[in-house]
Amino acid sequence: MADSADAAAPLVELRNVRKSFGDNVVLDEIELLVAPGEAIVIAGPSGSGKSTMLRCINGLEEVDSGSVLFDGERVDPRSRTIGRMRADIGMVFQQFNLFGHMTVLENVMLAPVKVKGVERDAAKVRARELLETVGIPEKADAAPADLSGGQQQRVAIARALAMDPKLMLFDEPTSALDPEMIREVLDVMRDLARGGMTMVVVTHEMGFAREVCDRLVFIDEGRIVEQGPPAEFFAAAKSPRAREFVDKIIHH
Ligand SMILES: Nc1ncnc2c1ncn2[C@@H]1O[C@H](COP(=O)(O)OP(=O)(O)O)[C@@H](O)[C@H]1O
Ligand SMILES: [Mg+2]
Repeated sequence: MADSADAAAPLVELRNVRKSFGDNVVLDEIELLVAPGEAIVIAGPSGSGKSTMLRCINGLEEVDSGSVLFDGERVDPRSRTIGRMRADIGMVFQQFNLFGHMTVLENVMLAPVKVKGVERDAAKVRARELLETVGIPEKADAAPADLSGGQQQRVAIARALAMDPKLMLFDEPTSALDPEMIREVLDVMRDLARGGMTMVVVTHEMGFAREVCDRLVFIDEGRIVEQGPPAEFFAAAKSPRAREFVDKIIHH
């Protein structure tokens, strides 16, 4: 975290970001800095703007006003450099979106070969390493449909890592999983964070937030309502909306 005068520049910087869909103000004066190596959790009720915020960070949505910077460069969906920037940002969704007609290994190799022009043999070696990292090396030649949801999500993480991203965005990565598979995915994410990956994670998994994340950012109706150490947030959220939210996820 930025605690000294010569602290590293933020990897992600949102400055006064506003975004509406028609009359619906979805992001309102969002200010967010993410330091290199930091892992943060974005929490908030459904419809509060969490996914939109992630999509603005990697330029899948254009902001109405304010600015988004990634690694010091403006994120602009219309710019010619957006493809190169996106290649540095891995994204993992609730739905794994693996290619069903390819093996697990081919799924992980695809982007490096297609987007970065990595040679197939090298991409294959790297893909095998990554399947090792996410704990399913034995599934390399399997079809995605033959994997459990937890295994498929771990392949999706390996696929994102195959591009050697500087930043990983996770949008409710365990929300579609059966309870017994959530742990295995969170463990992979925890190891990534401990390995120094910069991560922005939308999740309701409080244990993960507390154990792994440096900071929790609570968003409601498009505004950042409060932020701080996850443990403090769960123990004593300050705003009524945040307390209501914590009560709901604890008792659900
Ligand atoms: N492409 C879109 N077009 C119109 N409205 C959208 C679009 N994407 C999101 N919204 C609206 O923006 C609000 C925030 O959505 P979202 O960012 O998905 O919230 P969250 O991820 O916190 O549930 C919701 O009201 C949603 O209906
Ligand atoms: Mg969402």
